[in-house]
Amino acid sequence: MSQPQAKFLRDYQKPKFKISHIDLDFTLAQKQTQVVATSKVFRQGHHQEPLVLVGDELTLLSVMINGNKAEYQLLAGELVIDTALDNFELQIITQLDPEANSSLEGLYMSDGAYCTQCEAEGFRRITYFLDRPDVLAIYTVRVEADRQAFPYLLSNGNLIDSGELQGGRHYAKWHDPFPKPAYLFALVAGDFDLLEDKFTTCNQREVKLQVFVDKGNLSKAHHAMASLKKSMTWDESRFNLEYDLDIYMIVAVDFFNMGAMENKGLNVFNTKFVLADKASATDDDYHGIESVVGHEYFHNWTGNRVTCRDWFQLSLKEGLTVFRDQEFSSDLGSRAVNRIHAIKAIKNQQFAEDSGPMAHPIRPESVIEMNNFYTVTVYNKGAEVIRMMHTLLGEAAFQQGMKLYFERHDGQAVTCDDFVAAMQDASEVDLTQFKRWYSQAGTPQVDVKEHYDEQAHVYQLTLSQMTPATPDKAEKQPLHIPFDIELLDVDGDTVFNRVLDFTEETQVFTFDGIKQKPIPSLLQNFSAPVKLNFNYSVEQLVHIMRFATSEVAKWEASVSLFSQSVWQNVERLQNNQSMYIDPRILDAFKGVILAQDLDKALMAEILTLASASSLIEQKDAVDLDSLALAREFVVFEVASDCEDELLARFRELEKVDDAAARALKNICLSLLLKVEQSYAALAKQQFQSAENMTDSLAALSALNSESSLIRDELMSQFERQWIDTPLVMDKWLVLHATLACSKCINQLQSLFEHEAFSFNNPNRVRSLIGAFAAGNTFEFHRKDGVGYQFLADAIIKLNSVNPQVAARIITPLIQFKKFDATRQAMMKQQLQRILAVEELSKDLYEKVTKALA
Ligand code: TRP
Ligand code: ZN
Repeated sequence: MSQPQAKFLRDYQKPKFKISHIDLDFTLAQKQTQVVATSKVFRQGHHQEPLVLVGDELTLLSVMINGNKAEYQLLAGELVIDTALDNFELQIITQLDPEANSSLEGLYMSDGAYCTQCEAEGFRRITYFLDRPDVLAIYTVRVEADRQAFPYLLSNGNLIDSGELQGGRHYAKWHDPFPKPAYLFALVAGDFDLLEDKFTTCNQREVKLQVFVDKGNLSKAHHAMASLKKSMTWDESRFNLEYDLDIYMIVAVDFFNMGAMENKGLNVFNTKFVLADKASATDDDYHGIESVVGHEYFHNWTGNRVTCRDWFQLSLKEGLTVFRDQEFSSDLGSRAVNRIHAIKAIKNQQFAEDSGPMAHPIRPESVIEMNNFYTVTVYNKGAEVIRMMHTLLGEAAFQQGMKLYFERHDGQAVTCDDFVAAMQDASEVDLTQFKRWYSQAGTPQVDVKEHYDEQAHVYQLTLSQMTPATPDKAEKQPLHIPFDIELLDVDGDTVFNRVLDFTEETQVFTFDGIKQKPIPSLLQNFSAPVKLNFNYSVEQLVHIMRFATSEVAKWEASVSLFSQSVWQNVERLQNNQSMYIDPRILDAFKGVILAQDLDKALMAEILTLASASSLIEQKDAVDLDSLALAREFVVFEVASDCEDELLARFRELEKVDDAAARALKNICLSLLLKVEQSYAALAKQQFQSAENMTDSLAALSALNSESSLIRDELMSQFERQWIDTPLVMDKWLVLHATLACSKCINQLQSLFEHEAFSFNNPNRVRSLIGAFAAGNTFEFHRKDGVGYQFLADAIIKLNSVNPQVAARIITPLIQFKKFDATRQAMMKQQLQRILAVEELSKDLYEKVTKALA
């Protein structure tokens, strides 16, 4: 069997043909759905080459050109049509089996409804086509199905016709006036509850808004609808962007590989990012919905109106749209807390990807399976790169750049270079060196040394940068790094606060007239996605926590304090010394619990002590066994030193109905349980009297460190209460998956048989298996290797069911470089097992071979 081949950015060629219009006619029926695709095809430029269309898992019924039977060749996944014509009408009839499609790409069934997912390369599972984002066509879609089972027939754009047919069938016809790439095509047919509203745009155009949800869930659709309206308002006011069709539809489906999809005028969403009410959704779920609804809506301009030339440019739309959704959440809620969440995603996940076998630049240069590149690097580091441009240009010039970008490229499929060019041309800022961020993988390390001359009152910072080699490239060049700093004096007043332009390998920054040695708060607001190496003293960190102007800097300092202490104790353990914690650290955390002037949500962030996985990302090599003990020790010391204060805060906030107060209260509860298991009674009481999911779930999480009687009893109660609500049962599965106890894996094995679990549903798989591998660090990395085997077994099973999801949850298994030789050997052994599977998907093949290379 031939091995999957990589595609390279450098091989990009313009399409040889263009398709200006396509009419799609779907006759929906189980087992055999028929698709008639009629396209207007035009040869591009002077050449004699045949038309080559791609298709996947299709049954081809007929090919006609201008009404006559056409000659063609059917090769592996390609339909080759040799014709001398320069423009012609091409009609292709294919047959598909949506019911058997468990990959959830192309046309598939979700709980009795037909729906599509075409990004990145799923349209080729519907018909043979030029399935690439630089082929933009105008779509007219006719859908026909049984009326009773499928009363709603939806596609992109505007409804232009509908009616009854014989035999209880009916049809609807949709037309989308905006040319679009195939990946934005969508079709949905099913029976739903419908929430309707309307929005009047800045130019007084009325837009119909519709949210379709499974029957019985109407009352859970209101938050998504409210979020949609906020998104539309925000994009007008901050980016001056108006919606462009007369209707905007969102359909929530339970079977979905990702969060949601921005299909033109017809978004398809994972139910997780639509459905919410107080009883069943947490405060975090509410935030997640707002941000994903925003994200997909913002794609209408950044992604749909201006799209990508090729898939290597994915960050053009994703990095930019994540930046936009982050700004949306920050303008609507707490800027500091949103920033902290974004920083955590980079430090805990993106840094891991950058130091693992799948490291790639935000604009990858080679790809085997495109689905593998919807990554934290392309999305989140991509957003950081946009954010750095925003920092360098400032809001006004950045908006000028956006305006120029749309003036130049509306209706086109373009590149990341085109975006940067617009930003540069609209501002005075030279982005030549900055563009290296697009082509260099790996996390730059910035070393900082300070020097103070007491006589001359001169303070100096010497910055050096180095990007480590990654599998794709060894040599790295210096990057343009916006380096935000604040200098504080001993009284906590600001003596300097600015963004430095750090562009050379080593660069000295000199500050004159500094009367006393300042305390530097470095890389404020995480102004660049780099690793900072600076030997902060405990005293300096405590000072920053108290006096930094930036709330994010306070949080960062608290993370450093905690992490430093954990690593020192790892060292003590390795040297057979007893563990110890500096009392100044305890005081600093107590100060936060007692603080009256800090935002409660920020306090909760500071008290959410760094997770094991985030600690692992700070080092190149990790002794996991010592880390587990050291982290537990420091957490225990911090919590028990503040026991009274934690309890007081808990009591004070117990009945406050506000998300920030709940977050702080619940982190207090979880810390109290680290002190004493007798606080389990408090958790139980909270669980029994909780009036919202945030509080019930927090009580269960706080109890989730061992399989205690109380915990097991409440888990059963929760199960009985929510057995019919899959999204809530996902939370229950996650609790099982993250149980910090050696019984965990055995229990998970038996949960495969539970009615709430199914290998066919990605949400269930992510909750049970994904959450275990990514979130239960010490059980996954058990010394006996059972954790690795558990994950590999599940991945082998998923390979044939849903390759995309299988390749996503394998991540922790390919990131083995930091661990001891024994663990590495066991992890590789499981990867070998996976590699030996017959008919291994491209998705898994790419990741496993890179890991074993
Ligand atoms: N473009 C989608 C988003 O951000 C991502 C997405 C949804 C996706 N479904 C997918 C990507 C399936 C690959 C495969 O916002
Ligand atoms: Zn997106």
